[in-house]
Amino acid sequence: VTEPTSAEIAALLTEFPDYPKPGVVFRDLAGLYAEPGMLSRLATRVADRFAGEFDRILAIESRGFVLGAALATLTGLPLTLARKPGKLPGAVHQAEYQLEYGSDRIEVQEGAVCPGERVLCVDDVLATGGTLQAAGRLVELSDAKVAGLATIVALTGLGGRERLAGHPVLALCEVP
Ligand code: PRP
Ligand code: ADE
Repeated sequence: VTEPTSAEIAALLTEFPDYPKPGVVFRDLAGLYAEPGMLSRLATRVADRFAGEFDRILAIESRGFVLGAALATLTGLPLTLARKPGKLPGAVHQAEYQLEYGSDRIEVQEGAVCPGERVLCVDDVLATGGTLQAAGRLVELSDAKVAGLATIVALTGLGGRERLAGHPVLALCEVP
């Protein structure tokens, strides 16, 4: 498997200006997922970067589930789903955050992440970093450690990397 370059990823992204709100340029990854073999190549790049450094994958609803499932299949490591509010049964840890276009909350079931585990949090896009920062808080509320925060695309200029300083951050492709 040849690992995809940043340029190869960028060429498969589509820009939608003023979606979902005026002023936001939405980066659509549909063309990337439609490329035969691409998803496993993306997952391989993430797995190689964090090889031996994580025990569990935490994937963020909903677009983070795609890379999360591919990584779990590739590595054989346990996968936990961080869900939007009210979707999980039983007791949950909660983390609120601001989005580029609104505010939201993600949750993880208590006991789903084991104390002391090294957890790799994954999503499709890093924008302001609010979502991945909240994912990191869910890991810490579970008494586990953040092994890293990984995305396919990072939008530069929104302060995402700065907000996530303190954790290893991997983005396979950076776009303005
Ligand atoms: C998008 C994207 C990331 C987040 C990034 O999710 O999938 O999770 O925004 O933005 P941030 O870095 O500013 O937090 P969205 O909340 O739109 O939900 P979806 O995955 O269900 O479409
Ligand atoms: N998630 C948050 N901001 C985004 C953007 N501009 N494009 C795609 N996904 C996003």
